[in-house]
Amino acid sequence: MYAVYLFSITWAIVQSLPQGAPPSVCQTLMPFHGGGIRPQGGLSPYTIVPRRQGNHIVVTMTSALGIPFQGFLLQGRTPDRDIIGQFDSSSVNEGHPLDCGTPSDSITHNSPNDKNSIDVVWSPPRGYEGPVIFNATIAQEYETFWVGLESDPVHVTKRGANDPQFSFPLHNNGPTPPNYIPRQVKQNSAEFDPFYQGCSVTKLCFGSPANCVESKNCKAAVAVTVAGDKYDFELKAESSAVWVGVGLSEDDKMGDDSVVECVKRGNGIAAFMSYTNGNPNYGAPRLPNPQLGIQLLNSSIQDGAIYCRVRRDALTIVNGKAFDLIGKKYNLLIAAGSSLKQSSVGFHDLTYLASAQSQALADVSALAAKSKLLIRLHGCFMIAAWLGTASVGILLARYYRQTWMGRQILGKDVWFAWHRIFMLLTWALTIAAFVLIFVELKAWSGERNPHAILGTITTILCFIQPIGAYFRPHPGTAKRPIFNWLHWSIGNAAHILAIVTLFFAVKLTKAELPDFVDWILVAYVVLHVISHLILSLMNCIADRSSERRVTSFPMKDLGGPGRNSAYSDRSSDAPYSNFRRGLLAVYIVIILAIVIALIVITALAPIAESWTSFKSAVAPTNAN
Ligand SMILES: *[C@@H]1O[C@H](CO)[C@@H](O)[C@H](O)[C@H]1NC(C)=O
Ligand SMILES: *[C@@H]1O[C@H](CO)[C@@H](O)[C@H](O)[C@H]1NC(C)=O
Repeated sequence: MYAVYLFSITWAIVQSLPQGAPPSVCQTLMPFHGGGIRPQGGLSPYTIVPRRQGNHIVVTMTSALGIPFQGFLLQGRTPDRDIIGQFDSSSVNEGHPLDCGTPSDSITHNSPNDKNSIDVVWSPPRGYEGPVIFNATIAQEYETFWVGLESDPVHVTKRGANDPQFSFPLHNNGPTPPNYIPRQVKQNSAEFDPFYQGCSVTKLCFGSPANCVESKNCKAAVAVTVAGDKYDFELKAESSAVWVGVGLSEDDKMGDDSVVECVKRGNGIAAFMSYTNGNPNYGAPRLPNPQLGIQLLNSSIQDGAIYCRVRRDALTIVNGKAFDLIGKKYNLLIAAGSSLKQSSVGFHDLTYLASAQSQALADVSALAAKSKLLIRLHGCFMIAAWLGTASVGILLARYYRQTWMGRQILGKDVWFAWHRIFMLLTWALTIAAFVLIFVELKAWSGERNPHAILGTITTILCFIQPIGAYFRPHPGTAKRPIFNWLHWSIGNAAHILAIVTLFFAVKLTKAELPDFVDWILVAYVVLHVISHLILSLMNCIADRSSERRVTSFPMKDLGGPGRNSAYSDRSSDAPYSNFRRGLLAVYIVIILAIVIALIVITALAPIAESWTSFKSAVAPTNAN
């Protein structure tokens, strides 16, 4: 049972990927992206360009700006919007055909990987004469897509039955598709970047993750300079961001802050003023006048990365609150995210950081980031508790009841004494970690992640467990089997939930954990499951080979027939006790290694950047 639970945890982590547009979007070309998400208006960065290739047409979807896209749906249509012709799906790896009336009359993507350019071969229906327009929906990302992008019309005439002629509007032989210029991969994050020029000298800079301004590799950063009686805010974010924002706050938390945000819009960037909600409805709705007191001076998208310079009045009244940049001190909150809502930015899933202290914005000395000590301690405590002490304690209670027989610690059986020590440690660490995280956040977590709710349930289960154990009925009494069963199920439920909660922790922005932590957790699950399997097997063999009733498995004293007291023979160990002790030693060593590795990663987070540079330093480059 236990093994099945643990395997299903691992399995549940594997998520299926979306695979293209469903046929219901045939006529409208409107993808169902979460209901309320509307297509982008305005110019799209993508072009649909048909050209001749023998008896066929090759349609190219690409962005002259080199902005990759994730999804598409393409059709050939008459000016009356009838879907015609046929795509040759074998001409494209990244797509599969759809049937919107006739087979293969439409084509859509296979996976949401970034695509720079797609070429697909299309043939007109037999004997067709007239114009054809290629109509497409292209999704840059899940929440950013353009519907109904049309190509220039191609005129199809027939020479023979199977020999169509094509004429293109501008160039008779069809235009060549625009050259795709691949995005430059940044070789060195510390290369010259004018954004960081003058930080702490002429401008106040703050970025996330902490200390990134010095290393010039912020995921998101702001630089403030005084410009006469106004203030210039320069914002910059990494390329996966579609928005970057800076909040002026009276404390180091989100809520009641005036925000200047720069948002990708079509080919360009727009700047808005918004105002943050705090607990519990975190968000940053735009002001009724989203341009209040600001002016976008300059903006660019370089290699996909947003840069903007916004000039802001020194005094603005936002939601009845005066934001006086000259007279007051503010904490800076910097954030960036990869999604937009209809009229506000989405969750800051890429990065978020608050400065530790408020500062006058004209003071250019560097702002230190808010300490993450409590969050780190929370993580370390929970890892030590659930991967470490709980795992060992549960193993002891389950398989070591007839080991070290005849020896006692403080009048208790050895397994029980150690089980109690490990479980009380688990309890203490869990409660401490739970209190720490509430001291730090002072509220329920704002992230859309089940970590908080699962963690709370785990903590409650963990909290009641020793209370139940204290009032346990005596062995042999009628209620003892019920206690055993409850103690076993609550303990295991808490343990499994805790492991699932740890998996979700990896996805929290605040935790700043690298993705490979998932694999360390998977290694733990595998180790745990294998240990349980081996020990269960040993028990079965011991049971068979021995006349004694070995009742090391707690479910066995539920009172089934033929199963009498667990304490029939207290003088000697069950068979294979040396093997069990050896296995326990190995188990503890590996668990210790896993716990130490994870605690180091948590304490030093974010280490993803140093990890990447470590890898590129170790791996030889192809260039040499
Ligand atoms: C292309 O699709 C859009 C969106 O559905 C539609 O408004 C437009 O009329 C279509 N054009 C043609 C030629 O079908
Ligand atoms: C806008 O930015 C570009 C490139 O960073 C720079 O060359 C230009 O001078 C800037 N324009 C203004 C008005 O600051």
